[in-house]
Amino acid sequence: MRLFGKKIKPSQNAFAVVTGAGSGIGRSFALELAKRGGTVVCSDIDLDAAKETVALIEELGAKAFAVKCDVGNAKQVEKLAEQAEQLMQHPTTLVINNAGVGLGGKFDEMTLDDWKWVANVNLWGVVHGCHYFVPKFKQLGRGAIINVASAASYTAAPEMTAYNVTKAGVRALSETLSAELRKHNIKVNVLCPTLVPTNIIKNGKVPHKGLLDYALTNLAFTTSDKVAKLTLDRLDKDQLYTIPQIDAKLFWLMKRTAPNLYAKFLGTSYRLMK
Ligand SMILES: NC(=O)c1ccc[n+]([C@@H]2O[C@H](COP(=O)([O-])OP(=O)(O)OC[C@H]3O[C@@H](n4cnc5c(N)ncnc54)[C@H](O)[C@@H]3O)[C@@H](O)[C@H]2O)c1
Repeated sequence: MRLFGKKIKPSQNAFAVVTGAGSGIGRSFALELAKRGGTVVCSDIDLDAAKETVALIEELGAKAFAVKCDVGNAKQVEKLAEQAEQLMQHPTTLVINNAGVGLGGKFDEMTLDDWKWVANVNLWGVVHGCHYFVPKFKQLGRGAIINVASAASYTAAPEMTAYNVTKAGVRALSETLSAELRKHNIKVNVLCPTLVPTNIIKNGKVPHKGLLDYALTNLAFTTSDKVAKLTLDRLDKDQLYTIPQIDAKLFWLMKRTAPNLYAKFLGTSYRLMK
């Protein structure tokens, strides 16, 4: 990305909005952006959590603002886009559509309300973020978007149908926008991690919570801080995908090179595990 002939990195000195910034990966993004000279609007459905992130950023000597926003509510996201500009006294240059919730369980045991709940946050939340920020970026003549999907967008792990569908949607949205917005000087990156130790299991609707939370805390190959740093670096290098961990990369390779074999492997592993 160039401004007056100078190459600029979207993660440096950004005027950024991060959704779901009160915890986990969102908080790590907000802190890393502040370390890179940015001003950050930390939005979350949980205002107190967003305020905690702001306090951590202020300790670093950077500027941040807490805003309550439910990403599933279009009107609130529209307001967030307006408010961000006023608070930062500068147009937003980067939006990170990160807020998300976890949902697990067998397909036939999931209610339609469960589907609507997870789709409203994980998919519509990202659609709302892109919908209200893209016109502003076009007007500014530049901008950047990071959408937080998941390796679940391609792994198709059983007992995660609705979550997988929302994340596949986020990946497709990001891939399409990357192509469509390139001519407007708007960069897109989509983050697709496997396990990252955060509060997603504690906050989500998932069976075997204790076991899954143990796996998340003890078996993850990375941390939310490392994931945030890597994703911002990938954005700066104009890369569409961030696939942080070795297992995420392996599944990505298997799925693309041998999709039918991968589906059989998945079905057999699931049957054996049960
Ligand atoms: N942790 C993982 O293993 C993992 C793996 C792949 C992808 N992800 C994705 O990373 C993103 C961040 O999740 P996390 O792991 O940091 O979880 P987390 O639970 O630690 O943080 C999620 C944050 O989003 C906020 N939030 C929830 N619903 C919201 C809403 N409707 N509007 C605004 N904010 C809302 C929560 O209050 C919380 O602060 C999610 O999109 C998640 O799907 C996580």
